[in-house]
Amino acid sequence: MIIAIDGPAAAGKGTLARRLAQHLNLAYLDTGLIYRAVGKKVLIVGADLEDAAAAEAEARAMRPEDLELEGLRTDEVAQAASKVSTVPGVRAALLEFQRDFAAYPPDDKAGAVLDGRDIGTVVCPEAPHKLFVTASMDVRAQRRVKELQDRGLEAIYARVFEDMKERDVRDSERAVSPLEPAKDAHTLDTSDFDADQVFQAALDLIVSPGE
Ligand code: DC
Repeated sequence: MIIAIDGPAAAGKGTLARRLAQHLNLAYLDTGLIYRAVGKKVLIVGADLEDAAAAEAEARAMRPEDLELEGLRTDEVAQAASKVSTVPGVRAALLEFQRDFAAYPPDDKAGAVLDGRDIGTVVCPEAPHKLFVTASMDVRAQRRVKELQDRGLEAIYARVFEDMKERDVRDSERAVSPLEPAKDAHTLDTSDFDADQVFQAALDLIVSPGE
């Protein structure tokens, strides 16, 4: 059982993926966190974020404990992740880990939920369940502002909106594994849904996808 969830930032992927994993007793991998860790490590060593060789070196040196680095959820690191994720060598270096997680989920789980940008298209193209979770720019920016503020971080709507737009464009227009729905993905627009409604709609699609 593999559930692939893709979509732009702050569309509700993470919350949904976590809930589905818990409900269906599956392992969960937030693949954005891996790209964030690579971006953060490039920032820590002080290399240029446009330096493809430096980014690839950090991706190849990734260790599980890097996912615990401080500040991975900030917008600065999100932008860094979006930049390093355009580098083909970075994506190649991280692909095997993600595929292994899906094929051999930890803790003897019977399957996994992975969320990101290219799970249904590249990482797990054979996944039997694929969701493309999206929402309007305005709703996503509002959600992101609330999320940052809830974590005690400063967040200004206009700035968050622009940052998100820039990231969406970069993630969607990159040459390798761009953000796009898989041909066989169900699109779920969460603009008018709360988290419970998103969860129920996704569960309905997974349990009875033809209806
Ligand atoms: O899901 P997120 O916002 O934490 O992801 C941060 C960035 O990482 C995102 O802007 C693009 C990149 N990313 C990616 O290229 N492929 C993925 N599967 C997940 C994230």
